[in-house]
Amino acid sequence: MREQLERLKQEALRAIGEASGEDALQEVRVRFLGRKGELTALMKGLGALVPEERPAVGQLVNSVRDEIETGLEVAQQAARERATIERLQSERIDVTLPGRRLAIGTKHPITQVVEEVCDIFAGLGFSVAEGPEIEHDWYNFEALNFPPEHPARDMQDTFFVEDNLLLRTHTSPVQVRTMLKQKPPVRIIAPGTVYRCDSDATHSPMFHQIEGLMVDKGVTFGDLKGILTVFTNQLFGQKTGVRLRPSFFPFTEPSAEVDIACVICGGKGCRVCKNSGWLEILGAGMVDPEVYRHVNYDAEEISGFAFGMGIERIAMLKYGISDMRLLFENDVRFLRQF
Ligand code: PHE
Repeated sequence: MREQLERLKQEALRAIGEASGEDALQEVRVRFLGRKGELTALMKGLGALVPEERPAVGQLVNSVRDEIETGLEVAQQAARERATIERLQSERIDVTLPGRRLAIGTKHPITQVVEEVCDIFAGLGFSVAEGPEIEHDWYNFEALNFPPEHPARDMQDTFFVEDNLLLRTHTSPVQVRTMLKQKPPVRIIAPGTVYRCDSDATHSPMFHQIEGLMVDKGVTFGDLKGILTVFTNQLFGQKTGVRLRPSFFPFTEPSAEVDIACVICGGKGCRVCKNSGWLEILGAGMVDPEVYRHVNYDAEEISGFAFGMGIERIAMLKYGISDMRLLFENDVRFLRQF
């Protein structure tokens, strides 16, 4: 029995020495000290000893158990420390590594142009107005003096939702909505999405416009030209001003198309301006009395001007983009450049 205990002790201590980690040590503990372990099994033999021998062997059993226990504890403590050191090593942070850049987006060039245009007009005393993209025929055409047979009303140009409901073809209905809501003086700018059944390198079925409207006592065509000159000079950073050509819109009289000196060639003539030296950027005119009649304004009392520009066209000129479709493909390699 004594020899068996001695052997068991040696074997346990060797097993402890060989155990490679906390889990292995736990196995050793179960194997020798567990309820079904080897020491417990040996103790069952105590009963077979002569009574005089029992106390001494009993003490030996206890001391063997204590020694194994101590050995296990020391080894476990060491294993825990080793594990901690290993974890600290493997989780070490190299604070000298360069940081990873967050992939934050950029503002879409359309958004940038809208914000820039609104900023310029805010500086001229204009506030921002909005209207719905699904619009009644009345606001989009009727109140703007489009005759019933006007080609813009045709199915080929306008996306109809229902009989009298359509996707607005321009931002001009916001003029009507604004004038119905407030009395002069009016000074608004209305950016928004508009829709037309048209699609090629310079036309998209969905695009953006900014509408401007100023109505007050004594507003003249000279004010229109002055405001647009200040605006285009700021937006394109040139001092060449604007050129107005006579034109026609059902809701302005007189009407004009507004050109700026070609931003590509500076007016000398190139492919973009078709050798004219000028680029058309917006439509404008004095608000037609017929529109005032629809919104209950007194055309004898007040006067005003309106203008409307396509944002995509301005973005293309400003950033030298040759195909409008690039603006809507959402390729980040393209968008990141702005
Ligand atoms: N709404 C016109 C268009 O889309 C532009 C415009 C606006 C013209 C205001 C004159 C006055 O073509």
